[in-house]
Amino acid sequence: MSRFAGKVALVTGGGGGIGSATSRRLAAEGARVFVADAAGEHAARVAAEIRDAGGAAQELVFDLTSAEASREAVAAVEAQTERGAIDVLVNNAGAMRRGALLDTSEDDWELSFAVNVDALFHMCRAVLPGMIAAGGGSIVNTASQWGLTPAPGHIAYNVTKAAVVSFTKSLARDYAPDRVRVNAVCPGEIHTPMLERGIAEKGKTIADLDALVPFGRIGRPEEVAALIAFLASDDAEFVCGSCVEITGAQAVA
Ligand SMILES: NC(=O)c1ccc[n+]([C@@H]2O[C@H](COP(=O)([O-])OP(=O)(O)OC[C@H]3O[C@@H](n4cnc5c(N)ncnc54)[C@H](O)[C@@H]3O)[C@@H](O)[C@H]2O)c1
Repeated sequence: MSRFAGKVALVTGGGGGIGSATSRRLAAEGARVFVADAAGEHAARVAAEIRDAGGAAQELVFDLTSAEASREAVAAVEAQTERGAIDVLVNNAGAMRRGALLDTSEDDWELSFAVNVDALFHMCRAVLPGMIAAGGGSIVNTASQWGLTPAPGHIAYNVTKAAVVSFTKSLARDYAPDRVRVNAVCPGEIHTPMLERGIAEKGKTIADLDALVPFGRIGRPEEVAALIAFLASDDAEFVCGSCVEITGAQAVA
């Protein structure tokens, strides 16, 4: 498939689990991918792996919590494109701070909003003018199943991911007339470094999580990447303002 031939994609959190799988998938389908992450060595490794596999990718190292750094990074990418625009933006970076309200510090709360919500505001404000001027584009945000159905003991994460759901629908409604499609994925448990850190803290195993999923196992980053690629592609031309669950039926368990 070459659904992204000639397209430029920027994937935030591109050095992490779902972001690296998404970067690989978009590149395998022809996109030139900018792998954005604050963890420079991870972004560089993913970009190098894509190039080794014959794709086009480069790392883009900046902290998404800075509006200025986000604007500069987007401008640097746009300057390297023929249309002066990014075709596909995947707002995927995220942070998880655990705890019920009384176990959540001000720092936990602020960091969660800065990475999970404010970064989408910064990135979309930077990318949209170019997309609109170029006649359209596609934005896919990584929300969470927990943004739709809160998990116990994760108030900052739940609330910020619910904000991502509303942000997605609000943006879609406002910019659909400009042919900018905005959608989100709402994953359940996916086997990534974030999940590995979580189960280590809770003293759980992958088998414990597998047992909670009606499908019989937790998800793989490549499965979320396939959904993100579909939503970002022209195959999803009339899909706009949707927040799609990908949970192995855990959402209905
Ligand atoms: N793994 C799951 O079970 C799961 C489930 C639902 C939703 N999600 C969401 O999927 C997305 C990807 O998560 P993952 O599991 O791949 O996690 P991950 O920890 O593997 O990747 C997250 C990446 O985001 C980057 N990042 C964090 N803060 C940043 C910042 N300020 N600036 C730039 N980059 C920053 C990290 O360096 C990391 O590479 C997140 O939004 C997460 O909330 C994950």
